[in-house]
Amino acid sequence: MNKDLDAYWMPFTANRQFKKSPRLLAKSSGMHYWDDKGREILDGVAGLWCVNAGHARPKIVKAIQEQAAEMDFAPPFQMAHPKAFELADAVAKISPAGMGKVFFTNSGSEAVETALKMAIAYHRVRGEASRTRLIGRERGYHGVNFGGISVGGMVANRKMFGTMLGGVDHIRHTLDIGRNAFTVGQPEHGAELADDLERLVALHDASTIAAVIVEPISGSAGVLLPPKGYLQRLRQICDKHGILLIFDEVITGFGRTGAPFAADTFGVTPDLITCAKGLTNGCVPMGAVIAKDSLYDAFMNGPEHLIEFFHGYTYSAHPLACAAGLATLETYADEGLLTRAAQLQGYFAEAVHSLKGEPNVIDIRNFGLVGGIELAPIAGEPTKRAFNVFLDCYEKGLLIRTTGDIVAMSPPLIIERQQIDQMVDTIRGAIRRAA
Ligand SMILES: Cc1ncc(COP(=O)(O)O)c(C=O)c1O
Repeated sequence: MNKDLDAYWMPFTANRQFKKSPRLLAKSSGMHYWDDKGREILDGVAGLWCVNAGHARPKIVKAIQEQAAEMDFAPPFQMAHPKAFELADAVAKISPAGMGKVFFTNSGSEAVETALKMAIAYHRVRGEASRTRLIGRERGYHGVNFGGISVGGMVANRKMFGTMLGGVDHIRHTLDIGRNAFTVGQPEHGAELADDLERLVALHDASTIAAVIVEPISGSAGVLLPPKGYLQRLRQICDKHGILLIFDEVITGFGRTGAPFAADTFGVTPDLITCAKGLTNGCVPMGAVIAKDSLYDAFMNGPEHLIEFFHGYTYSAHPLACAAGLATLETYADEGLLTRAAQLQGYFAEAVHSLKGEPNVIDIRNFGLVGGIELAPIAGEPTKRAFNVFLDCYEKGLLIRTTGDIVAMSPPLIIERQQIDQMVDTIRGAIRRAA
């Protein structure tokens, strides 16, 4: 093993495989990375679902540089700096109507913890302190902290970590390859899966349930789409029982589905949105919770000198992140990127679905600029086939992501048609070689 690589314990990585044959990225610009040997690599996953405007965008780079020189840090508790308010305002302006309050964190995981705590505290300040139960969904991904893995439903992320949070339950996931395989866009079948929430209400009673958290589209679990009518039904059931609905839009936020948020695309307004990644184009770590005005208002009670919500991070609304966020939102607006996926999704869908019929492809799913290709696992060696496809694509100059035996695509929103073709052709070759 190369000793120089010894000290770094890499996250969500096969450390021993990596250190035997490292994949080191050294530079990025636009749609591309370059590795440490100068080889060009097309970015098929926007870094990690975050670099929505493409890499090294001049406005964002300049904003970060200037902010670092002007003011490095400002304490966020009982103090603030102007760009925190400017960014909150800019985020609120592109958020669904009535969702005008923005709480900053440093990651998607922290946004999730914040939203879960807000939900429980909200019921308490309204005098319904019995509503403490949190409901997630099987195969959900909500980051890696204890709240997030508790409401999350990816077994590998949960099984090593004991009993996690108490008082959590899960509704069923929406993947149904039997009925929906190779559907272009939203699946027809499965709206009734939302009724699973009624089962949990019958079991626990609504008076114990604070919130339900779902990803409008599950990304990390392998691009699982909401069946037509599903999110609407979930919203109705939440309303009926006074349960808050949280959309985890860490992946779907900031243009991925063809609108600023998936809430817009699917026409369903939650009570809380968690976001991160595309908020700063991945340039500086930052997450946020966007809350309904009415939810914020419920906290604004009691003596005015008292803190209303005992929660926050040293780096909440960090000046560098705020500067990056403002420049990112400007870049999105200048270039129409928050709706570009809607224009490209037809071409993207056709390209991705052209992989139907390739060896071991058992399902293809797409929405906006997100694509998932599910492969049949190698007998006795789950995840290996997709990992081989990942390594092969990388060799051929394309970065993708895999989870289980699913290949995921989520390119920067600046992608051009010919780059979509390049991406799909490279994956096609790798899938054939992995047969
Ligand atoms: C839906 C969702 N929630 C939360 C997270 C966690 O975000 P982070 O890795 O920034 O903590 C992710 C990351 O991919 C995500 O996809």
